[in-house]
Amino acid sequence: MIYLDNSASTFVKPREVIKAVEDGLLHYSANPGRSGHNASIRTAMIVEETREKLARHFGALKSEQVFFSMGCTQALNMAILGLARHGGHVVCTENEHNSVLRPLEWLKNSGVIDYSIAYQNGRSGIDVEAIKSCIRANTYMVICNHISNVNGDKADIDEIGKFCRSHGLIFLVDAAQSGGHERINMTESCIDLLTIAGHKGFYAPQGVGALIASGDILPEPILFGGTGTNSLELVQPDIFPERLESGTLPTPAIIGLNAGIDFVESHFDEIQGKIDDLTTFVNYELRKLGLPVYTQPENSHGVIAFNIPSLGSGEVATLLDEHWGICVRGGYHCASLKHKALGTLAGGAVRASISYFNTFTDVQRLVGAVKTIIRKNKIQVDG
Ligand code: ALA
Repeated sequence: MIYLDNSASTFVKPREVIKAVEDGLLHYSANPGRSGHNASIRTAMIVEETREKLARHFGALKSEQVFFSMGCTQALNMAILGLARHGGHVVCTENEHNSVLRPLEWLKNSGVIDYSIAYQNGRSGIDVEAIKSCIRANTYMVICNHISNVNGDKADIDEIGKFCRSHGLIFLVDAAQSGGHERINMTESCIDLLTIAGHKGFYAPQGVGALIASGDILPEPILFGGTGTNSLELVQPDIFPERLESGTLPTPAIIGLNAGIDFVESHFDEIQGKIDDLTTFVNYELRKLGLPVYTQPENSHGVIAFNIPSLGSGEVATLLDEHWGICVRGGYHCASLKHKALGTLAGGAVRASISYFNTFTDVQRLVGAVKTIIRKNKIQVDG
């Protein structure tokens, strides 16, 4: 199998992560923060260590403001629903995933907020001018996808962050695709809230993500229940992280994430270099064939979207899988506005997404397979 669907989930995990999860199941399977026995305390300590590592990794100041979730979707919902202001206005971008668009649409349809969408209009990513043009007197929050899961477009979060800070706007960044692959410093980039998925750029198992708050902007809870603290009170405790973490945490996945952060930090330049090289190769080779490629030529963030004329994107994905054992994603990638902007609303796009564990041979095989599909199906292309 050649796995090129790493934007959905990285499949090949570092040995260190697999070992950590196994160790976690063997030695840290007690419920963290719920009991006073040694096994529970030991487990809680590794959970707290993971919070500290994440806070440090993203330049956030308080580890108690790292909130674990089941993934990036839940983390985004926690921020968007938990900060909703009646009569307020939110700005998001055309690159948002449904985990941003759907809660916003739900809030809008419920009469709570209104929201506007910032467009790139042919530019290579969302910039501060796109955001500025959407601001209204009642705007309280800007939500920005960092790297598009559809085609890798990257937003200028540094400039947008500065603008938000100077205008008193909450800045929420969806780093589902960039966390682990890009250097992000929340303090330097004025990011109030950041969401990540563990199972993508951090090579952790599925089942853990996080919402990280760098300062005083803290959402209200959207999930209530047991926290292991203030148990006799009927109201949700007002201490953090417990206030936003009801229910048992996914400890084995958190322990995997702990090892994943170490892995990423000790291989950071290598990871970036590998992803950069392989993305550039695929991008240029597919362009040489004359195919519509929706990833900008200079973009090398690990996501390449393309189509083969006359064939559906799902059909191409199935052919690649059945005949070459190549896993890519076809169809739509849960980001309808982006498909509209790219002109792929009719049938979606084939998306190849690269991780540190891909090799040059993997991407050569992809390009070779695409060439064969073109030849066998007598496809007319411009190249
Ligand atoms: N959001 C993930 C993707 O882009 C699942 O495939």
